Amino acid sequence: MSSKSSSIESVLTENRSFPPPEAFAKAARVGSLAEYEGLYARAERDPEGFWAEQAAELAWARPWSQVLEWKLPDARWFVGGALNASVSCVDRHAASWRKNKAAILFEGEPGDTRVITYGQLHREVCRAANALTALGIRAGDFVAIYLPMIPEAAIAMLACARIGAPHTIVFGGFSSEALADRIGDCKAKAVITADGGWRRGAIVPLKDNVDHALAGTTVEHVIVVERCKNQVAWTSRDRWWHDVVDTASPAHEPVAFDSEHPLFSLYTSGTTGKPKGILHTTGGYLTCAAYTTKLVFDLRDDDVFWCTADIGWVTGHSYVVYGPLANGATVMMYEGAPNAPRTRAFTSGRDPGAGLDRFWDVIERWGVTVFYTAPTAIRAFMKWGDQHPAAHDLSSLRLLGSVGEPINPEAWMWYRKEIGGDRCPIVDTWWQTETGSIMISPLPGATPTKPGSATRPLPGISIDIVNKDGVPVGPNQGGFLVITRPWPSMLRTIYGDHERFRTTYFGEIEGCYFAGDGARRDADGYIWIMGRVDDVINVAGHRLSTMEVESALVSHPKVAEAAVVGRPDDLKGQAIVAFVTPRSGFIGDDALAKELREHVAKHIGALARPEEIRFADALPKTRSGKIMRRLLREVASGSTARGDTTTLEDQGVLEKLAQSFAHDD
Ligand code: PRX
Repeated sequence: MSSKSSSIESVLTENRSFPPPEAFAKAARVGSLAEYEGLYARAERDPEGFWAEQAAELAWARPWSQVLEWKLPDARWFVGGALNASVSCVDRHAASWRKNKAAILFEGEPGDTRVITYGQLHREVCRAANALTALGIRAGDFVAIYLPMIPEAAIAMLACARIGAPHTIVFGGFSSEALADRIGDCKAKAVITADGGWRRGAIVPLKDNVDHALAGTTVEHVIVVERCKNQVAWTSRDRWWHDVVDTASPAHEPVAFDSEHPLFSLYTSGTTGKPKGILHTTGGYLTCAAYTTKLVFDLRDDDVFWCTADIGWVTGHSYVVYGPLANGATVMMYEGAPNAPRTRAFTSGRDPGAGLDRFWDVIERWGVTVFYTAPTAIRAFMKWGDQHPAAHDLSSLRLLGSVGEPINPEAWMWYRKEIGGDRCPIVDTWWQTETGSIMISPLPGATPTKPGSATRPLPGISIDIVNKDGVPVGPNQGGFLVITRPWPSMLRTIYGDHERFRTTYFGEIEGCYFAGDGARRDADGYIWIMGRVDDVINVAGHRLSTMEVESALVSHPKVAEAAVVGRPDDLKGQAIVAFVTPRSGFIGDDALAKELREHVAKHIGALARPEEIRFADALPKTRSGKIMRRLLREVASGSTARGDTTTLEDQGVLEKLAQSFAHDD
């Protein structure tokens, strides 16, 4: 894919007939299982007709001539159509009765608040689009965004979309090295960041991290939002957001882009050390983000929708920004940690407490109606104690959601009882960065739920569970989760590596998309996700590749070899355990373990910091020299069952590892 799109169209000014936003209020709600099954069957019979109906709810400047062009693995959706994503998310609401409706309700970690209406959001997005244009950013140029969860994050995304500059958001918890890799890979021309962001009362030095990341990159401009007023260094490429955006014109004529114009890339971990830039395009991605938000969360105009994900993850893209805003919804945005109290300045001098109730406090004060979070967070809430939610009036809630990893039935039950008060349905949503939007989920009020199951695929999504030859497996048999038909929000490529895209997702199982997850389907057709089948681990709902952590470890001068595995963890789902062989002359002691943990955090980010480091003289390998991770996983989880060890080159290695483990415990 060339970075400059040749199909940019200036057609929007000629055709400003947006579908009325009221269309959303009238949109189909699925009220029963039979209705879901009917809709599912209709979509199976005529997928293109079904998706065309969903796409028609966006504001298109020029209609498509063909719904789908599919030549495995390459899809083009709504071929010939043109649209501007920010028009669907902002302009058409600002031009309707929603202009004075809140688009974003914001609470910063200290407790500062802002309410931004659709009318204001429109002016801010236009200003930011004008500011980016004035700096020379053009359609096709990548812009990196490295911001805390503040309204400027959504404004920056929509401004990029408005001028056709694909954004690449890097989670604020990633280190400057991880940021540099991502900026370098997509050759970003500008970075939008902040002086800092609040996290558990401390300032995350975002601008400093950007400064460290920028040496030798293509970045020409850095736009800095003033958030924490911390000291930052300044160079000639830096501009304050308030200098360039606040002074820009609030009027901006949007240009429509080809449906297949890149909207964003987002890096995620694969099975190698190099993260993958997952590329999504405009028409198909936005169609599914809008459709799934409406269907799964049954959004209504009086909802306050709070998806707690950071915009640095795909969940924040689809369910904080693009999906809800395309539906004209009100979203809640909270900057900080779930266990950070407001500061006294924002509690009218009252004791803010320890902050373990912060989320419930936000729900109560803002009247949140739909709450969408990760099982890791739910398990942390359980650990912190029932008294925290019990101290708050959560009766505004009507629907709860879960995403990111399999939710254990205990956490599901707790969520339902303690947070939903046995009143709110729970939607356990399975999807991936690559799928762009929710693929498998119950529909509230329609699908009977089973704790721990994401239940059934959404209408339009064809799922199967197959063996490695692509043959469907029987009920309750484990297999690989595949998607057998293209869908509009599927990734289009791995930026700069189309071959890796083909082999990773379409090269494993003949003829369909391979998700990388194991799953089984029960006798009722309910899908149970069993977790990753590759070397990807899921720590607190965040994807990490074992290879990425290994490469960080072996880049340390005292490390000869390293192998990283996930071990089950009550709180985080999986925890990282690293087996390390030090170079000769170095001793594997506590000091080195500490040094290595910090080294990984510096290379990737705090979320990749190994929970445990085990030193070993040698690692278990096959005769051909391949590290046997399966055995290490067994050792790490304390299991004594070793399975098949016949290919192990040196049986003694395993004994030693197991003993060292038992010893330290
Ligand atoms: O293993 C699955 C798990 O998270 C992976 C996708 O991670 P990522 O691209 O970072 O996106 C996370 C947010 C969409 C999947 O391959 N996963 C996600 N949701 C669920 C899940 N596992 C079980 N149940 C879920 N609801």
